[in-house]
Amino acid sequence: MRIAMIGTGYVGLVSGACFADFGHHVACVDKDSSKIDRLNAGVMPIWEPGLEGLVKSNAERGRLTFTTDLPGAVEGAEAVFIAVGTPARRGDGHADLTFVFEAVRELAKVIKPGTVVVTKSTVPVGTGDEIERILREEGVTDVSVASNPEFLREGAAIADFKHPDRIVVGAEDDRAQEVLREIYRPLFLNRAPILITGRRTAELTKYAANAFLAVKISFINEIADLCEAVDADVQDVARGIGLDNRIGPKFLHAGPGYGGSCFPKDTLALLQTADAAGVDQRIVRTTVEVNDDRKNDMVERVAGALGGDVAGKRVAVLGLAFKPNTDDMREAPSIPIVTALVERGAQVSAYDPVAREQAEKIFSGVEFSDDAYAAAEGADALVMVTEWDEFRALDLERVAGSLRGKVLVDLRNVYDPGEAEAAGLRYYGVGRGRPGS
Ligand code: UDX
Repeated sequence: MRIAMIGTGYVGLVSGACFADFGHHVACVDKDSSKIDRLNAGVMPIWEPGLEGLVKSNAERGRLTFTTDLPGAVEGAEAVFIAVGTPARRGDGHADLTFVFEAVRELAKVIKPGTVVVTKSTVPVGTGDEIERILREEGVTDVSVASNPEFLREGAAIADFKHPDRIVVGAEDDRAQEVLREIYRPLFLNRAPILITGRRTAELTKYAANAFLAVKISFINEIADLCEAVDADVQDVARGIGLDNRIGPKFLHAGPGYGGSCFPKDTLALLQTADAAGVDQRIVRTTVEVNDDRKNDMVERVAGALGGDVAGKRVAVLGLAFKPNTDDMREAPSIPIVTALVERGAQVSAYDPVAREQAEKIFSGVEFSDDAYAAAEGADALVMVTEWDEFRALDLERVAGSLRGKVLVDLRNVYDPGEAEAAGLRYYGVGRGRPGS
């Protein structure tokens, strides 16, 4: 199968490389010529485990190419995937579809009858209809438009793509269904379920999945607050409810609030869709508020652990990316935390295994350290913000020896409170009994 993939961001690049790995011929298109040059030289624009090797091996076999030439890439393609960015518009949270519609207008000039156009970017309900309308307006007929939302997680994107819990295809005609079944055929061998739905249903499924996960996280975060008030442990509560099959153990990890490129954006976009449809979505609306407040309030936990005031204190921050195994800083909880610490007069020494370059663009007045122990040196408190694996096995006695104040604020509940106390640290977790008791 010949595939054109428009957009080489996270979704486009991972999907393109994985489709090529299935044996398809994939041409990835992007307007950014320097990005394409770098990709052709084997340099990845994002940090994602396994991606570089996958791109390299498929490019060498001639199945994966990178180009700025959209007409050339679309020529002969049986399926054209649209995987351009759909950022939240400033102010109103609407998904900005400018890049999607620009790509469609360009496509319209060159697309051949019989091609299937597939949206892979997360797009609001009705976007497929609008794409069809634009194509008709540009004089294109006999082209199918389908929706195939992506559920991959950053940091585990390739494994998620190759072993999906499900594949969702929203198609309104047989040809689109057949082409997408053929593209994903290698995954049927692994018995990955494919769910064929209407196009609008597929578009909504993606938002509903992300909104539900956001609700689940916010729920356990609120339970964590209650645990602190009543001296209970949220880790055990999460295990106790998660062992119930109807609830499930995942996404019940209390912490500083969710971030990243998907949950914050997609929950807002779902609310916009609901508003436009005149349907209130109180649960999702409240979840957005709960999460925003939580991220902004996290600094109070650090201040509380330092006796109420951070001015003049030195604070070591471990982990800046919104989650481990990525350099992505979008909507990272570290942003409000570090910004507020600096604004309130703290000196911040930060360390992240890969996100330093991205973080330097966001923070000013922050010292970046080369490892966790260097960050801790002379600090009044150590704050764990992102649970990279390399932080899980820190030598806590060495950490305690490096710190000036013996305070550990563990916003990801990575450490065992007893072990931390035994190492001479005052431990403050999230939802693990009364703070500091
Ligand atoms: C998410 C979805 O998982 C994926 O299916 C979708 O396609 C895109 O959005 P991603 O944003 O890469 O993927 O990260 P994910 O691992 O889901 O984590 C999102 C955020 O939730 C992170 O900030 C993470 O720290 C937080 N989180 C996750 C929690 O706070 N607690 C949890 O139990 C799980």
